[in-house]
Amino acid sequence: MKGIILHGGNGTRLRPLTYTDVKQLLPIAGKPISEYALENLIEIGIKEVNIVIGSTGGEEVKKYYGNGEKWGINITYTCQEKPLGIAHAIGLIRNFAGNDNFVVFLGDNFVQNGISNLYSNFKSHNYEGMIALVKVKNPVQFGIAEVEGDRIVRLVEKPKEPKSNLAIAGVYFLTPKIFESIDKLKPSARDEYEITEAYQDMVDKGLKVGYSIISGWFKDTGTVDDFLDCNRLVLDRIAGNIHETEISGNITGRVFMSKDSYISDDSKILGPCFIGSGTTIENSYIGPFTSIGPNCKIKNAEIEDSIIMDGTEISLSRNLILRQSLIGSNVKIKTSESTSRAMKLVLGRDSRIEL
Ligand code: TTP
Repeated sequence: MKGIILHGGNGTRLRPLTYTDVKQLLPIAGKPISEYALENLIEIGIKEVNIVIGSTGGEEVKKYYGNGEKWGINITYTCQEKPLGIAHAIGLIRNFAGNDNFVVFLGDNFVQNGISNLYSNFKSHNYEGMIALVKVKNPVQFGIAEVEGDRIVRLVEKPKEPKSNLAIAGVYFLTPKIFESIDKLKPSARDEYEITEAYQDMVDKGLKVGYSIISGWFKDTGTVDDFLDCNRLVLDRIAGNIHETEISGNITGRVFMSKDSYISDDSKILGPCFIGSGTTIENSYIGPFTSIGPNCKIKNAEIEDSIIMDGTEISLSRNLILRQSLIGSNVKIKTSESTSRAMKLVLGRDSRIEL
């Protein structure tokens, strides 16, 4: 069994962050979202992983994951020059797969309980393809699977009259039989080679295509709200260097403090929170569900339910709270001492401010 993690795509819904950053490397509690996927692959014993990178940002991905040594596995890379769809990306890894079965993980998808149960199901049924499904309340907004017994019978994109509430999640278990079906695909209305159509072709040919329903929490983090939601979930379960109870009077709850982070006595941290290394927090309140990356400077600020990425400086002298915010790297936010109503803003394309 081999593993593939997709790091391509357009990432339009996470702009402006994705103008400069690869969305799958955006951090949740101090780790890129795709590292959780990698850990899920390692948990089921996978030692060979191929990461599909896009034409931009690939160097950042390679720099972070390298040859996989840090995780005790072997990582190689494939470049998808254009984001022509998930099936197109999978089509590019046929040499890597060889005759082996493989699991494809979308690098911005998060599965709370890992994929061991899914893998057992795939193996025990000898499926030629298997899709991970997740129960949803609003099936009209998703790609939906219609099932009979232990088989998939039809996959429908955003059905008007859904026949099930089982949405397709971003974890695909496959055998090399998929490549024949990918080769037959034509671009869809949105100009992408659709993985659902490739699976449908396998079903239509009578191949044994099954499914496994994800238990527990699943998240596609493609939007700001979903990304923040995922941050909440991960922080809720944060473990490691934890201050379980009040330690120095100003840190309460489960707070993960990295090495060399500094919290002044006049600050208050209320977990669950993650504070990155080299970050200083002075005269501030950091509330629940906040992840602050490394080398940030937070002064006179109140922040909760937010993600602040590395090297960012925030100084809010007025009575403002930063809440449900996703702030990128090396951003500077400060308020002036004066009571002037004038605002000075330097914002790039697609920036969003709600005051
Ligand atoms: P999506 O989130 O569906 O698409 P996107 O990344 O283009 O984002 P947006 O819709 O906001 O523009 O992609 C799902 C996952 O698959 C994501 O991790 C990116 C990856 N992907 C590729 O690797 N190659 C591709 O060609 C596409 C379309 C997606």
